[in-house]
Amino acid sequence: MELCIRKLCPEDIGPLSVIEAQAFSMPWQPEDFAALLEHDYCLYLVAEADGEVAGCAGMTVSFGEGTIDNVVVAERFRGRGIARKLLRELFERGARRGVNAYTLEVRVSNHAAIHIYEGEGFVSEGVRPRFYEKPVEDALIMWKR
Ligand SMILES: CC(C)(COP(=O)(O)OP(=O)(O)OC[C@H]1O[C@@H](n2cnc3c(N)ncnc32)[C@H](O)[C@@H]1OP(=O)(O)O)[C@@H](O)C(=O)NCCC(=O)NCCS
Repeated sequence: MELCIRKLCPEDIGPLSVIEAQAFSMPWQPEDFAALLEHDYCLYLVAEADGEVAGCAGMTVSFGEGTIDNVVVAERFRGRGIARKLLRELFERGARRGVNAYTLEVRVSNHAAIHIYEGEGFVSEGVRPRFYEKPVEDALIMWKR
């Protein structure tokens, strides 16, 4: 599989919205992705596998901290290290922008995602009770410093 990690561009919004809708109960809409393209403080990366949009990861950057607010990989491309590669590229590009700490929230039941984040150096620093809807669930707050 030929994998390319690059910045989000307008042509990715259609395929990414489909991937989102399949992965989340409250998916980002096309306009949510479109808004990211307009702001310099948003850094969003897309994984292209054999020329096909396979997933994305991104963050908003503020005062040296990166808040990762989306990580998703299309079902048929999972388990091939794409999420890990997206995150590592995000950290490399973040470092160039002076980011020295990263945070994110994740459903307490999302063991796959928590496993990846822990592998990338994130530690759990708290819980946001009932943070998620559909279904209601607590969020684990994780930081990588
Ligand atoms: C979580 C998600 C992004 C992982 O993407 P992926 O490309 O399949 O992940 P990777 O292949 O990079 O996996 C990295 C590690 O996680 C492990 N992993 C991946 N999926 C797993 C699963 N379902 N259960 C347990 N471990 C899993 C892999 O084994 C690998 O670990 P290792 O390197 O120690 O062997 C993907 O499953 C997804 O899009 N899920 C739905 C959306 C979501 O939950 N996003 C996160 C919101 S916070």
